[in-house]
Amino acid sequence: MKVAVIGTGITKFGELWDKSFYDLAEEAASHAILESKIEPGQIDAVFCANMLSGNLTGQNHLGAQVTSILKIHCPAYTIEAACASGGVATNLAYLSILSGKAKNVLVIGVEKMTDFTNAEVASGLMGAASEDERQAGLTFPGLYALMANAHMQKFKTTRRDLANVAVKNHYHGSLNENAQFQNRITIEKVLESPPVATPLTLFDCSPMSDGAAAIILSAVENTNNSPQITASAVATDTVGLAKRKSITEILATKIAAQNAYKQAGITPADINVAEVHDCFTIAEIIAMEDLGFCPKGRGGKYISNGSTKLGGSKPINTSGGLKACGHPVGATGIKQIIEITKQLKGEAEKRQVKSAKIGLAHNIGGSGATAAVHILQI
Ligand code: COA
Repeated sequence: MKVAVIGTGITKFGELWDKSFYDLAEEAASHAILESKIEPGQIDAVFCANMLSGNLTGQNHLGAQVTSILKIHCPAYTIEAACASGGVATNLAYLSILSGKAKNVLVIGVEKMTDFTNAEVASGLMGAASEDERQAGLTFPGLYALMANAHMQKFKTTRRDLANVAVKNHYHGSLNENAQFQNRITIEKVLESPPVATPLTLFDCSPMSDGAAAIILSAVENTNNSPQITASAVATDTVGLAKRKSITEILATKIAAQNAYKQAGITPADINVAEVHDCFTIAEIIAMEDLGFCPKGRGGKYISNGSTKLGGSKPINTSGGLKACGHPVGATGIKQIIEITKQLKGEAEKRQVKSAKIGLAHNIGGSGATAAVHILQI
């Protein structure tokens, strides 16, 4: 028995003030169901990924909100693991199929962020950090700025290396009609953009976004041109950054990636295309190293030399990543699986990676306390 992605559905990401949580969930879920060619009544379980709804709107109990939209009555679960909620929900859905209790599972991530002030959302996001960090007045841009400064000091990563991540991902976003930002930018534009938390400026940051993404996972004997999930791994680390041995790596990513490569029986060199968690430019640089795509300390140069741009040896974040496609936190991990699915099926249009057969999705929560890594193959 294999677990395959048999249907996908995604909304545009961005400031979607005219769409509610329910509109977004319905749009993504109904498209995924249609594409999968199953009936809603054949869904055995729903896993709904979300981080902020309870905090910002007071609305919890989202799993049942999704089943009521679809007029079905199967078990439904709400999954929260900060920005890794989508990756963790996918892992649980995968395990539920492996348990033999479910054949078809809907995994959906939905987030509405732009109806609130940035201060309200930033404060909600800090629920994914430690109490010490909240009391110190830190925000996620601040936490990742600490990591960036340490990486620059230790490995001579430069401000231009950081900027190159944003330039590449905006270029990829310009080829994705669902992306929040479809404008190309230059290194100078990144360097001149308003400071957020030194060394990070506006264009080093993922934005506040609304959006939803849904997939149908199914137990199949023959995959019939649907990508198969050949590895699903989650690992964790301390919630607070100060408690870690190193802040120039994300240990949870390294552990999840090693487990995933082992499950799939492959090495980092076998990956043709990957979506990685670039909530801030430094996060993509560190991910290159932790996922084993380049030696430790070389992530900045690896991206700056063009290896990870479309047409390079290992295209990364062809969707535009969190940086340009947007980061509706609960939906992000599922959007990554959808982008890899499209790439493996040859349906990524202007951003298609030629002959992609093996793809990886890497989703992290907070400053790296949770990491989920999935490998898909066709
Ligand atoms: N990249 C590019 N442009 C951005 C942007 C981003 N990340 N965020 C906002 N913009 C644009 C807006 O579209 C707007 O453009 P306009 O004037 O042409 O309409 C302009 O910049 C100002 O937007 P605004 O929402 O007022 O920005 P802000 O200064 O209040 O917030 C950030 C910018 C970067 C501080 C905010 O998006 C942020 O906190 N991002 C991080 C989110 C986060 O922590 N996520 C969790 C990760 S672990």
